Amino acid sequence: MKFGHFDDQHREYVITNPKTPWPWINYLGNEDFFSLISNTAGGYTFYKDAKFRRLTRYRYNNVPMDSGGKYFYIKDENTVWSPGWKPCKTELDSYECRHGMNYTSIKGEKNGVTATALYFVPLKTWAEVQKLSLTNNSKEVKKLKIFSFVEWCLWNAAADMENFQRNFSTGEVEIEDSVIYHKTEYKERRDHFAYYSVNVPVQGFDTDRESFFGLYNGFDEPQVVAEGKSRNTEAHGWSPIASHYLEVELQPGESKDFVFVLGYVENKEEEKWESKNIINKTKAKETIAKFNTVAKVDAALAELREYWDNLLSVYTIDSGDDKLDRMVNIWNQYQCMITFCFSRSASYFESGIGRGMGFRDSNQDLIGFVHQIPERARERIIDIASTQFQDGGCYHQYQPLTKKGNNDIGGGFNDDPMWLILGTISYIKETGDFGILTEMVPFDNDMSVARTLFEHLTVSFDHVVNNLGPHGLPLIGRADWNDCLNLNCFSNDPNESFQTTENKTEGTKAESLMIAGLFVIYGRDYVTLCTKLGLTEEAVRAQSHIDAMMDAVKKHGWDGEWFIRAYDYYGNKIGSNENEEGKIFIESNGWCTMAGIGKEEGLCEKALEAVKERLDCEHGIVLNNPAFTKYYIEYGEISSYPAGYKENAGIFCHNNPWIMIGETVVGNGNRAWEYYRKICPSYLEDISELHKTEPYVYAQMISGKDAFKPGEAKNSWLTGTASWNFYAITQFILGIQPDYDGLLVDPCIPNDWKGFKVSRKFRGAEYHIEIQNPNGVSKGVKEIIVDGKSQASNLIPLFEDGEDHEVKVIMG
Ligand code: BGC
Ligand code: NOJ
Repeated sequence: MKFGHFDDQHREYVITNPKTPWPWINYLGNEDFFSLISNTAGGYTFYKDAKFRRLTRYRYNNVPMDSGGKYFYIKDENTVWSPGWKPCKTELDSYECRHGMNYTSIKGEKNGVTATALYFVPLKTWAEVQKLSLTNNSKEVKKLKIFSFVEWCLWNAAADMENFQRNFSTGEVEIEDSVIYHKTEYKERRDHFAYYSVNVPVQGFDTDRESFFGLYNGFDEPQVVAEGKSRNTEAHGWSPIASHYLEVELQPGESKDFVFVLGYVENKEEEKWESKNIINKTKAKETIAKFNTVAKVDAALAELREYWDNLLSVYTIDSGDDKLDRMVNIWNQYQCMITFCFSRSASYFESGIGRGMGFRDSNQDLIGFVHQIPERARERIIDIASTQFQDGGCYHQYQPLTKKGNNDIGGGFNDDPMWLILGTISYIKETGDFGILTEMVPFDNDMSVARTLFEHLTVSFDHVVNNLGPHGLPLIGRADWNDCLNLNCFSNDPNESFQTTENKTEGTKAESLMIAGLFVIYGRDYVTLCTKLGLTEEAVRAQSHIDAMMDAVKKHGWDGEWFIRAYDYYGNKIGSNENEEGKIFIESNGWCTMAGIGKEEGLCEKALEAVKERLDCEHGIVLNNPAFTKYYIEYGEISSYPAGYKENAGIFCHNNPWIMIGETVVGNGNRAWEYYRKICPSYLEDISELHKTEPYVYAQMISGKDAFKPGEAKNSWLTGTASWNFYAITQFILGIQPDYDGLLVDPCIPNDWKGFKVSRKFRGAEYHIEIQNPNGVSKGVKEIIVDGKSQASNLIPLFEDGEDHEVKVIMG
């Protein structure tokens, strides 16, 4: 069942039924100021950090779901309704929510009145702009009463939810003209306040929550709205809110627009006050003035659209398949950008108070957005590398506000260092900027021990070399990519965290085949980099470690039909036929196959067959099989999940692309494509009632074949799934890969595809590539014709001339 449809021309998903199986959300803002907004106007706003600088309040996992947001209440005679259906839930005559690129527009119609609320954060602006448009389609004059509503959060979203003995006494506001200012804690240590304005005189306002709703009413029935008049309250403590009250008269056929601005200001210490206890509002007024007319708002929206036109013009495909085109051209790239901005902090599954930026996560995210905003990717790489330790290990996470490593979680995740090589080489291949390698980058944010970024890559590489186990395979540490394979944790205390407990470091034999594959792949990239830089000896040294790792994998990592997953603390195999449960895992088979380890001997093909047979199911490839059915203290969190969910045999959409790419390594384009389609949201639109999360973005997990209800997705939006699927489809299936000296073309597609077209902006030129597949092959390039000239290699050269170039690729 569908709840809407794609509008590709406008790059929108149009929701036509507000009762989606789960709130379907969108993100506003892409630099400093952000909002989450659902299809029924739920959500919240923050500045930079969802934990420390939360502007408006939100209650996660509430009853009903998705309570709290940016609401408009419309009172028309005795009917009260909202354009987004919620919170009033008055049945609407029509409803439509359009989620677009960093904007959302929600339109409702009731009794001859149409109300459209458009929400977006203009570029370079610390504010969310809301345009409310009202039209009277009826034959009578309409006298409407409009109430806006937001609820302030007392800044620190965690403290806001727990420290009520203090919180209920601190709230402070100011009201001036049509602007409500939230200034809690401004008089002491804060240099910031928030505001909510409207561009016309108001007939009233409220800032005290209890007066607005009544103590025992929900969001659906504020008593002020029922009474049809604001109480002009000024909040003192308790829970400050902001609500404007407007009386609007509309003649038949008449429309009126109102602009609301929800913004944030920081003032220098000496500029904080206008007079005693009266805040300095200059900056707020400046921002409000920038958006005080519809024309200015429309112009700002046009600028935002243009910004996205540009970002999305770097890689476009025309395949003839709408579902594929809209993912590659629009939604997958959009999700990559959103994931870059938010890492894993704030979604409808991440509360915004839990996690900082992940070291491995951020590096992997980079491969999905580096082509869109290379300068910000550069900055991100330096930030990430600055949290590395001198021995190559890394803080697992860092805080976006301070950019410092997070001591609570610490380090010891032994896959982390290798991802820095992936992030860095992806950036250099995209931009050609080798200069980044000579940037001086601190260790643990201490500039006195700074080294070049290249030396950071060396210590990353050596961190694996220096931490090998009894089989010559990488020691796993706390965990590798799979945070739930905690082989040194042995926790029997439910109050301990699996991620931070590592109580068995002595005598550990726990080794990871996943890191082995990772090391071979990015180790090779490190070798190539050394060679390019003329560091021949270092290249030879590194290569010898890679060769040794490949031997170790073949000798100790092959189980007969697939690659084993790991050795546990005692040196026993995990992911082997010898095991009763968890006989086979996706990660090691993905990584060792992508690395092509044992390809000549047929190991890769065999491993992929085993994956197909044992892990694949209707909804995608599960992580392990058979699922764990009891808790294994020596394995950790993975066995804590019920079978079929999350890391215990869930379909982890992040790692399915590793198998897709593996299939392209052995030339099986049919399978790579089959796996791609299976988890790709646009192909799942028709089963939205089962899939549950948004059909325009990936979720981290779909419940697997062993689950109570297979096929149900969870944790949409902020996941490495976005970048890995983009990487797999664009670079390995469609096969257009940025490389140091050009664009490498090496598609691996279903053999019944006749061809497709890709436009790629790359290093100052635009390539229009047409791929033809006259002989029905899956892989292999017979001829490439660049600007009319046939060339021998499948590397399209750099032109850097600002021109368009025509490329024809004949497969065969
Ligand atoms: C989740 C993992 C996640 C880890 C760290 C676990 O509970 O299952 O997916 O990586 O927490 O946040
Ligand atoms: C989510 C985490 O963000 C990521 O770092 C981890 O690799 C996966 N879960 C798998 O456990």
